[in-house]
Amino acid sequence: MSTSITVNREFIVERENLRNSKFVDSPLPDAASLPAGQVLMRIDRFAFTSNNVTYAAFGKAMSYWNFFPAPDGWGKIPVWGFAEVVASTHDEVKVGARFYGYYPMSSHVVLQPSRCGEHGFTDAAEHRQPMHALYNQYLRTSSDPAYTADSEDQQVLLRPLFITSFMIDDFLADNDFFGARTVLLSSASSKTAYGTAFMLSQRGKDIEVIGLTSAANVAFVERLGCYSKAVTYEQIATLPNHEPVVYVDMAGNGKLRSSLHHHYQDNMKYSCAVGGTHWDELGGGANLPGARPALFFAPAQIKKRMGDWGPGGVQKKLAQAWQQLMVPVLDPASGWMHVVHGTGPQDVQQVYLQMLDGGTRPEEGHVLTLARD
Ligand SMILES: NC(=O)c1ccc[n+]([C@@H]2O[C@H](COP(=O)([O-])OP(=O)(O)OC[C@H]3O[C@@H](n4cnc5c(N)ncnc54)[C@H](OP(=O)(O)O)[C@@H]3O)[C@@H](O)[C@H]2O)c1
Repeated sequence: MSTSITVNREFIVERENLRNSKFVDSPLPDAASLPAGQVLMRIDRFAFTSNNVTYAAFGKAMSYWNFFPAPDGWGKIPVWGFAEVVASTHDEVKVGARFYGYYPMSSHVVLQPSRCGEHGFTDAAEHRQPMHALYNQYLRTSSDPAYTADSEDQQVLLRPLFITSFMIDDFLADNDFFGARTVLLSSASSKTAYGTAFMLSQRGKDIEVIGLTSAANVAFVERLGCYSKAVTYEQIATLPNHEPVVYVDMAGNGKLRSSLHHHYQDNMKYSCAVGGTHWDELGGGANLPGARPALFFAPAQIKKRMGDWGPGGVQKKLAQAWQQLMVPVLDPASGWMHVVHGTGPQDVQQVYLQMLDGGTRPEEGHVLTLARD
């Protein structure tokens, strides 16, 4: 049986050598030693997916290391999770309250709530202020319409990814698929890619959704049922290239991007850079035939739709789509997702190293904690 730990246990990685990682323990503050206006939170559940490896791979370039400061040369990888307040010197955030948000891979974290309300708070720590507001918000589970206690695993695994999937589908449709009727997705077995394919598949037969994946994951991609077909990276040259296509890139693989642009030439109508699952084969997009690769920035499309759809419109449509996604996700017979829980340092390090080396199974959703041994 697992037991709660009585220190703050943190997982840190060497920034320039992600394969080097370690755990650091430090004493936990109590209410008496916690500075005024702060809360100590126990992080009892967080997801670890390729998205978190991408945060580390882009830690310097995109400032992901800046959320949770670490000793020189080391970094704390951000994760999405649930945490409970275990000590508080803040009037509006009480012990026992539970929040969804962005946390370090630790057993505990101290936050400094500001702009508190019924829905949650924003971390006012100075080093977080230059970061996008989305990452600094903590949602109170008791008033979050998307929250149910029995779906915490699915929420930490898919919620931060599905909003991007939803907005990519919407962005493409909003732009009439840039004149194309075929969408190619790389790392098709990733949760962000299949969330996008799931949304695209609801648009009917007009849109062909081709999943590009590694040979090991082709059967999984076929089984999902939301791709028109699955094609391995080695088979790209066999794809017909006489019609316009859009590329949604979750892999970030430079060679793959170059092969696709050269294969489709001017029929590559839009090239949308979303992810970097192939983090050790990342490459630039300069001087390629076809459309110039463009970074996808979900907040820009969210902002546009907040204007188009009015107050609450984005949340309402997203909530409807989430309910639809949960049908296959929660159905064990679908084979979409099997949640695997890990507890303590050994499990956390093992999942981390497997994910770095592409050794995890796409149907596995890893939910971890360091708050128990
Ligand atoms: N820009 C944004 O706003 C945004 C938002 C959400 C997610 N993303 C990005 O989308 C990507 C997918 O994230 P996710 O959490 O959905 O991934 P995931 O479900 O953990 O994806 C797993 C898949 O990624 C590929 N993969 C993972 N590790 C690999 C490795 N070390 N080497 C080679 N391939 C590897 C494999 O797919 P294949 O065999 O099919 O290649 C694997 O089945 C991430 O890069 C993430 O950062 C971006």
